[in-house]
Amino acid sequence: MKQFEHYSLQAYNSFGLDVEARYFVEYESVADIQELLQSGLLNGKRVLAMGGGSNLLFLDQFNGVVLHSGIVGIEEKEHDADFVTLRIGSGTEWDAVCAYAAAHNLGGIENLSGIPGETGAAAVQNIGAYGVEIKDVITAVETIALENGKQCYFTNANCNYGYRDSIFKQSEKGKHLVTAIEIKLCCKPVINREYGALNDYLCNKGHCEIADLREAVIAIRNTKLPDPKKLGNAGSFFKNPVIPLKEFEVLRNEYPTMPSYSVGSEWMKIPAAWLIEQSGWKGKNLGNAGVYEKQPLVLVNRGVRSGKEIAALANAVIKSVEEKFGIALEPEVNFI
Ligand code: EPU
Repeated sequence: MKQFEHYSLQAYNSFGLDVEARYFVEYESVADIQELLQSGLLNGKRVLAMGGGSNLLFLDQFNGVVLHSGIVGIEEKEHDADFVTLRIGSGTEWDAVCAYAAAHNLGGIENLSGIPGETGAAAVQNIGAYGVEIKDVITAVETIALENGKQCYFTNANCNYGYRDSIFKQSEKGKHLVTAIEIKLCCKPVINREYGALNDYLCNKGHCEIADLREAVIAIRNTKLPDPKKLGNAGSFFKNPVIPLKEFEVLRNEYPTMPSYSVGSEWMKIPAAWLIEQSGWKGKNLGNAGVYEKQPLVLVNRGVRSGKEIAALANAVIKSVEEKFGIALEPEVNFI
């Protein structure tokens, strides 16, 4: 177990903000966590469990204990003719898991290639891209309950997964450290290239392997999403809003080109990127916080001194979209 005081989180948040954690602990095993809980270090302090920090916005220094998983590794738990179950340490880079799957021609997560962050956080956040969510492959999430140090095992159904949502963001928020997850991948994968942009990219290619899809997804992401190592950002800053069909019909009369995707028979999902662009924010800055020119769903750090400047831009964007469309955008990023 590694423990530090007054520790810079600059390398641990993809906005690249130079904030400090009063305490920073990296645990490498379940035993480490249990020892930490017994030590009393957490008593009476704010506790933040974080992965790669690719979905966090620090508004200030963190006067508490940041806990980071150093439990890494991918192991094969079960294998039959059709499926492989992998057990993955929560601190493993998520994209390393996608690379492993592609190298072994295992299907299910190739569309989730290139997403920054670590495996534990990916399972909490239910990451998604190109028509796939991690919940589609998760069979279990293993945690330690902070309250009593007990090991817990959540089946997929127990995780209450929704769009960028899980039980770990609702009733169990702040109560667990994820130690490992299990995912079930397909040994005889069916290639799913239905998503428009993927199909366009692969149009000249006949037969495709999982590795080809992974390569295509990464190439598409690179054209639209900024590399956090070069320009601080947290991927999509807002969720795509889902509005009642009746409300959508009224809006569509006024904005006939508004894109939309139906969600069941009563709801419509509207791309937040389109709403933000129509509200005039694409490529605009507020101080040193910016709305990315190639994908307005992404807010970028162009040299802010505090996360509060990015929050101010987010609030200005929310206000504009609300005034123009009557839709309240909700951040996908967690404010700390
Ligand atoms: N659009 C515009 N203007 C733009 C860009 C996009 O109007 O400048 C509209 C277009 O109508 C486009 C639509 O937005 O068809 C959707 O854009 P895109 O397919 O790029 O996906 P998204 O809805 O913006 C979501 C996820 C991404 C994920 C992509 C690809 C959310 C909040 N975001 O973005 O996830 O990679 O789909 O599947 O659901 C993330 O969560 O960090 C993330 C990047």
